[in-house]
Amino acid sequence: MSKEKMKRIYICQSCNYRSFKWLGRCPDCGVWNSFTEEIETCASGISLNAGGCPERMSEIATRAEGCRIITGIKELDRVLGGGLVPGSVVLLGGEPGIGKSTLLLQFLGHISGLGNKVLYISGEESPEQIRMRAERLGIEMGGKEDFWLAGEVMLERIERYVSELSPMFLAVDSIQTVICEDLESAAGSISQIRESAARLIRMSKPRGLSVFLIGHVTKEGVIAGPRVLEHLVDTVLYFEGERGHAFRILRTVKNRYGPTHEIGVFEMTGAGLREIVNPSEIFLTSRSEAVAGSVVTVCLEGTRPMLVEIQALVSRSYLANPRRTSTGFDANRLAMLVAVGERHLGTVLYDKDIFINVAGGLRIIEPAADLAVLMAIVSSLKGIPIPGGTALFGEVGLTGEVRAVTMSGARLNEAARLGLKCCLIPWMGGKQSDTPKGLGVEFVRDVKVCAERLGL
Ligand code: TYD
Ligand code: MG
Repeated sequence: MSKEKMKRIYICQSCNYRSFKWLGRCPDCGVWNSFTEEIETCASGISLNAGGCPERMSEIATRAEGCRIITGIKELDRVLGGGLVPGSVVLLGGEPGIGKSTLLLQFLGHISGLGNKVLYISGEESPEQIRMRAERLGIEMGGKEDFWLAGEVMLERIERYVSELSPMFLAVDSIQTVICEDLESAAGSISQIRESAARLIRMSKPRGLSVFLIGHVTKEGVIAGPRVLEHLVDTVLYFEGERGHAFRILRTVKNRYGPTHEIGVFEMTGAGLREIVNPSEIFLTSRSEAVAGSVVTVCLEGTRPMLVEIQALVSRSYLANPRRTSTGFDANRLAMLVAVGERHLGTVLYDKDIFINVAGGLRIIEPAADLAVLMAIVSSLKGIPIPGGTALFGEVGLTGEVRAVTMSGARLNEAARLGLKCCLIPWMGGKQSDTPKGLGVEFVRDVKVCAERLGL
């Protein structure tokens, strides 16, 4: 790379805004003191797949799809879209300490057990530490295993190890620790991360090497990191969960080889991550029958329906601005539902503190939980329990109507599978979905009808 092609530039480490002079505050994202000086090279921008001859589309498609590798961890296979496509590059992001290294080590242990050569590069832990963890996770080490470890941060040496060992799988933990000697900027800065990742990806494609990159993100997503890599890699997985809870959710954010918004559910145990194949049972285990303020809903994550308990507590407020606190549910939607309740159900909430909790530490992002949240609030306010064995789902509109949600058939099946007796669901314009046996399905057109039906 010739020196003339390099130019000095200041980059906001928060949002990647570029400027030719240093700025105290980023004009784009407003963060203070976020600019660092970096050397810009022309290399990072080039196309990764350049240089391939034209091929017939049908032939390409069969080649890519034909040989997915089943990783042996069902929840991971699910989020990857039914197994890992060889030669793909996967970015695994998440907050520090959430369990990324653990997941990766377990996964690599599985595929090395299947007879694949695996190279794990760690810039965060020493090989001794990783070995100790692998022992605890029960990864087989017979002395002949093809699981190679290196504590390394220099990109040039990582590239050399890959060409010498020619592994099938390369894992880099984490991409923030990798240093490319050609660049002057510090490890973890945006140009280092992008250049290192781009070079690893470029190296992997012709070899058919599958690459796993780990990237840390903070809650606000402010530290330079995975976000700038999302367009470079094939698949982006985020590992998330509440610190106080043992449950971890692996979420597909981008996938060139499968659907997105699919989730995998894990539990962090003393012996590593355990898959939860039946999440509904977990999120409902602590359900006490018929308690005021507790409602079961069926939410959908990707293509997977899950039964979840929503809890509400409404209590008298001693504050000028009553509290509206929600864990696992959007605060703006909660404010909207409170207003709908006041207007269309006549519930008086202006002098009440309201707390919403999604049991189990799950975060619900779809509006199908609206109806359950609103009914939980009313149930807690009036001290009247919702009948046991009942689930509700539906989006609530501003005029108090209950709106249809996607895939209600799958939701009803899940409710029936877990032995619920009754589901209150949105009116679907006369279209009756096939109702599973043993499950009573009732349509509610608006929140008033729903509240009356539940005796609230
Ligand atoms: P780790 O995989 O190191 O997180 P990350 O790579 O995302 O920073 O996991 C960190 C946490 O997981 C740590 O607090 C300890 C916990 N843990 C267990 O509870 N059980 C286990 O078997 C392992 C390996 C880790
Ligand atoms: Mg780690």
